[in-house]
Amino acid sequence: MTPKTPVGVLISGSGTNLQALLDACARPDFPARIAVVLSNVPTAYGLQRAQDAGVPTVVVPHRPWPSREAYDAAVVEKLRAHGVEWVCLAGFMRIVTPVLLEAFGGRVLNIHPSLLPSFPGLHAQRQALQHGVKLAGATVHLVDAGMDSGPIVAQAAVPVLAADTEDTLKARILEVEHTIYPEALRQAVRGELAPLLAVD
Ligand code: GRF
Repeated sequence: MTPKTPVGVLISGSGTNLQALLDACARPDFPARIAVVLSNVPTAYGLQRAQDAGVPTVVVPHRPWPSREAYDAAVVEKLRAHGVEWVCLAGFMRIVTPVLLEAFGGRVLNIHPSLLPSFPGLHAQRQALQHGVKLAGATVHLVDAGMDSGPIVAQAAVPVLAADTEDTLKARILEVEHTIYPEALRQAVRGELAPLLAVD
């Protein structure tokens, strides 16, 4: 059987997307395995999820690095030490720099809770409600140096209901996030995103 591709997942919080990736990777026929979970927040619950799944964890606090680039260089070193080939940002509340992107030849995915290019940045669900859109959703994209930009890999839409609050919309979007992220990772490690990779 072909060996599974080692993936590093970067988190800052609860890690429900991490959990979906862990669950997918646990399936024998899934072509990726999570080699390490890295958090910038020592108390992130996702670290517990990784430990429960027997996956190594690393905390690299975001202070006191002199620059984003210096921080990313430290992250790259940890990921490389675990043999990582693809990186998944999963609620990682940091803007990554070319230091990380170039280290992995652009093989960095992110998930964002909106139908990009609408509503990049923070509070995507609040932005959707404020604009009165009737469809919201989630996007997996390759990461570039911009904010929630980069080639789109997968999207799923959900309805916005009249009674929605930020929390109910967030929950509905998370459900589809948990489906599209593992599927996008599957495509990524199978080499299907090669035409989208700007850096190689
Ligand atoms: C998700 O909504 C994801 O789209 C965004 O951050 C949130 C992370 O949630 N990038 P979780 O930590 O995976 O539960």
